[in-house]
Formats: sequence, C-alpha cells, structure tokens
Amino acid sequence: MPKVLQAVRGMNDILPEEAEVWEDLEERLVFWLKSYGYRPLRLPVVEPTSLFRRAIGESTDIVEKEMYAFTDNLNGEELTLRPEGTAGCVRAAIQHNMAAQVPKRLYYSGPMFRHERPQKGRYRQFNQFGVESLGFSGPDIDAEHILMLARLWDELGISDLVSLQLNNLGEVEERTCYREALVTWLAARQERLDEDSRRRLHSNPLRILDSKNPETQKLCRQAPQLVDYLGEKSRHHLKSVERFLRDAGVEYTVNPNLVRGLDYYNLTVYEWVTNSLGAQGTICAGGRYDGLFAQLGGKPTPAAGFAIGQERLLGVLANAGKLPEATTPNVYMAHQGEAAQRLAFSTAELLRDESLRVIVHCGGGGFKAQIKKADQSGADFAVIIGGDEVTDNTAQLKPLREMSGLEGSSYSSRQQCIPVARLADAIYDYYIGQSDDSD
Ligand code: HAM
Repeated sequence: MPKVLQAVRGMNDILPEEAEVWEDLEERLVFWLKSYGYRPLRLPVVEPTSLFRRAIGESTDIVEKEMYAFTDNLNGEELTLRPEGTAGCVRAAIQHNMAAQVPKRLYYSGPMFRHERPQKGRYRQFNQFGVESLGFSGPDIDAEHILMLARLWDELGISDLVSLQLNNLGEVEERTCYREALVTWLAARQERLDEDSRRRLHSNPLRILDSKNPETQKLCRQAPQLVDYLGEKSRHHLKSVERFLRDAGVEYTVNPNLVRGLDYYNLTVYEWVTNSLGAQGTICAGGRYDGLFAQLGGKPTPAAGFAIGQERLLGVLANAGKLPEATTPNVYMAHQGEAAQRLAFSTAELLRDESLRVIVHCGGGGFKAQIKKADQSGADFAVIIGGDEVTDNTAQLKPLREMSGLEGSSYSSRQQCIPVARLADAIYDYYIGQSDDSD
C-alpha cells in the first residue's frame, strides 16, 4: 500500500464547514476595510530573501530562525516564503512608485509562513489581514488604525475580550542611546538573566524587555526606561494618539516593555491581546515604520499599519460563541427520469435568477435517498420533480425545516404542487411568513 501523505506540520487544511466561516469573516473584514477607504493589494507569496533580512532585521527571531528560505534550483536566486506582509507591501510601493502623489490606504490578506514550534494559535502557515497606510506622517493615522480595530471588535461582539497595549519606541537615535544604557545596566546583572535574554544582550537587547521569563521581567522593571530617552517630538506623538483614543472612549494600557519582534518600527507600536486563547494571546499587532522605505532603497516615506492573525481572531470568536453560522442552500432539487432531470436543471436556474441558493441532485438514486441527501445538505426546501410534474410544468415544494410561516399541520407533511414559474415566489412567501412571525 502506498504511504498516505499528511499535510506539513503546522500547516492546516481548512475543511468546508470551517472554510465557510472563514469566508464569512473575510467578507465582513473587507466590508469594514472599505468603509474606511482602504483598497486591496495582492502581493507575491515568495519574495527575495534579502527583502526580509533588510526589512525585519538580521537579529530578529523571524530572520534568524523562522524563515522558509531556499535557493531557486533553476537560477540560484535566494527566495523566502513571506513571513509577513509589510516588507512586500513596501517593496511593491517603491517598485510601482505608489505613494508618490497621494498617500495610500491599502489592505491585503493571505498566508504567511514562519518556522515556529506549532501549538494552538501558532502555526507555520497562518493567515493575516494586513493594513498599510503609506505617506502619512501624523499620529492621526495611527489613531485611525486603532479606532477602526476597536470598531471591528465591537461589530464582532468581542470588545470585552480584547485589550489594547500601547507603546512609543521613539526614533532610531533615541533608541540607540537607550540601547546603550540598557545593555550597560543589564550586562552588570547578567547572572539574573535567562539564557535567551543573555544571548540577546548584544544582538537585540530591547527584545529582553519582552521576555516571558518572570525573573527577567522583574529585573526589567528596574532597568532604565525608554520613555526617559525620548525627545519632545516623540513624546508628543504618543500623547496625540492617546488623545484620539480618549476622545473615542477606547481603553488602553501604555506598556513600556512592548517592543515587537520586527525591527522596522518607530514611535507608535501596539498589540491587541486576549486572555481567551491561552499562551498565543495577540490577535492583532502593528505600528509606525517611517524608516522602512529608505531602508529598502525608496524615497523616505512615513507609514504605519497592522495585521490581524486570522486563526487567532477566529479562535476568539469561536470561544465567545460568536462564529457566524455556515451558509446552507435554500433548495435541494430531487428528480426522477431524464425529462424531470432536465426540468430540474432549468428550474434551478430560474430560482438562482431570484438569488436563491440551489443544489440539483446529481448521481441518480430514488426519491427517498435524494430527500435524505436534501435533508443532510441543510437546505430549507426540497423541490421534487417526477413524471407528473414534467407533464404539468410544476414541482412539489416540500419544506424540510420547522418554519413559523407553515401554520397548521406538521411541516414535513406540507407539500404543495406549484407551477415552476411561481416556485421562487412561493419560497419567498414562506420566508416572509417566517420573518413576519418573528417581528
Ligand atoms: P506580527 O506581530 O508578526 O506583525 O504578526 C501579526 C499577527 O499575526 C500577530 O499578532 C498574530 O495574531 C498573527 N501571527 C503571527 N505569527 C503567527 C503564527 N505563527 N501563527 C498564527 N498567527 C500568527 C506583523 O506581521 C506585521 N507585519 C504587522 C504590521 C503591519 N505592522 C505594520 N504593518
């Protein structure tokens, strides 16, 4: 027997029931993004490896150990499956001169790849919905991003389950001075650092502030604070963002230890976190990256953005019982005989013209088996066509679910013979009866 193959560890199949929920969420996200004037952008999944090295930073976890990097056998190019979307978006903006005339509000979605240790909420292939606003220098766009996210959580019914952590990373020169002070201070207390933090002391010392080790966290609370190294302009930027948030009634916590795992950020950074997912609690993260365009060889262009982790957002929605219900068909068409099958095909098209979702039975079998399939499909109605119906150009309409529009006898015994041309109206009459009743 040939060996049965499995999906790659940390890369998941999203089966139909789940994929329907994903699509529903995606539709809502696109609607939400468009309501703020964001426009879509579709980017390659594979980019030159050097893009991520230069954008995300050589000494970050992502570049050091999580990238799916490979050499193209055919031409020797060094390529990487994108671990995130910001670098590719900025590369595309520079390549197509996108931010030159007008600032741009953009969004993208799709799979990202990081070779992490898989666990619940952490995958090697995961999906992000990302937003990048290019050419905006003020704190207003940072605030817009945060406020639009607050609205999204509200619309999805999970506001109570997420909270906002905010920080100000200042500018590069400010961080350089701070970095020196922090390294000197921590180096004098090295023995109290965990192994990972000791390793980071000279490669990426600010990430030590983000350590999950309780002892290191305790030490970091006494360490020099970045805020004391920020100039007036940087402080003012955060204060302005905070003012927008207060005006809109969005609660937040300023977390001086929030540093993010990608090196391109400056000034505003933030994470939306939840307790409802266990260890992987960040469902969305972002900030400002004014230096990235120049770093990648483009004209200096201020910019900011964020990305939502789609699996994690779905996890929060699932735990909160807020997942949308999967869409079921309105009608399943059962038929017997060649003429009936042809009438079923044409009738289904008539119903679809009226925006109904219709499955026509395929694969033969008797009426009993077909009605069973109709029931399993989740359809509200079976439409049954046999020889008599072909002669009269009619169909039997059989409700399959309890609906309040069907007064009197049990729904399963209610079956009506209806002219094909009137079928859609009859179905809508049932639905209207149902919604009138629930008003
Ligand atoms: P990030 O914090 O690396 O930022 O990722 C954003 C979100 O993606 C995380 O908050 C999390 O929800 C989700 N995520 C990250 N890694 C995984 C994983 N292994 N499994 C499941 N979900 C994951 C960025 O990627 C930046 N590009 C965000 C950004 C856009 N900043 C400015 N613009």
